[in-house]
Amino acid sequence: MEGKGSVSRSERRAKRWKKYYKRQRELHRQIGDAGKDILQSRNFRYTREHIQHGNMTVNNHCMNVARYSLAWSQKLHINCNRRELIRGALLHDYFLYDWHDEDYIKPHKLHGFYHPGRALRNADREYQLTDRERDIIKKHMWPLTIVPPMCREGWIVTMADKWCSMMETLRIHRGHGALIEKLRDYRAEERE
Ligand SMILES: [Fe+2]
Ligand SMILES: [Fe+2]
Repeated sequence: MEGKGSVSRSERRAKRWKKYYKRQRELHRQIGDAGKDILQSRNFRYTREHIQHGNMTVNNHCMNVARYSLAWSQKLHINCNRRELIRGALLHDYFLYDWHDEDYIKPHKLHGFYHPGRALRNADREYQLTDRERDIIKKHMWPLTIVPPMCREGWIVTMADKWCSMMETLRIHRGHGALIEKLRDYRAEERE
């Protein structure tokens, strides 16, 4: 039986969810405004076909890193350039291959060391990057990259990336990778 107290509890819960969704919508709006050209590009959409961690695609991972970076910078009132923060986060893993593929490039086992450089080269080819955006992409794997980020935006993305990677590896954050893997198998079967 639902008493007066439980009704108000569920109302409070509904209010919290409403606030949460409103906040998420606002974060997505800001990401969309700052990274419209990236989000609409063919290559960025292509990252939906690549798995990052667990069953999360590279595309979902980059969106999550951008969302967390932006949310943390606002929550902690960090004075930084939010446009560069978002664009750097969206492009930080722009390496454009599936690092789980066995026969891709010889040093794929050293993907952790090599992919920031490759992401930077790919992003540089398509976008007019600022020095901050370059720093974010190039150093996001610190301490693997030895030289640490030289700007606040770089530190935020580095931390958000580690957090998201851990949540994805532990499958606390889940993506649609399984569906993509099935689609890939289906395509391979069709080619045979
Ligand atoms: Fe990365
Ligand atoms: Fe990443």
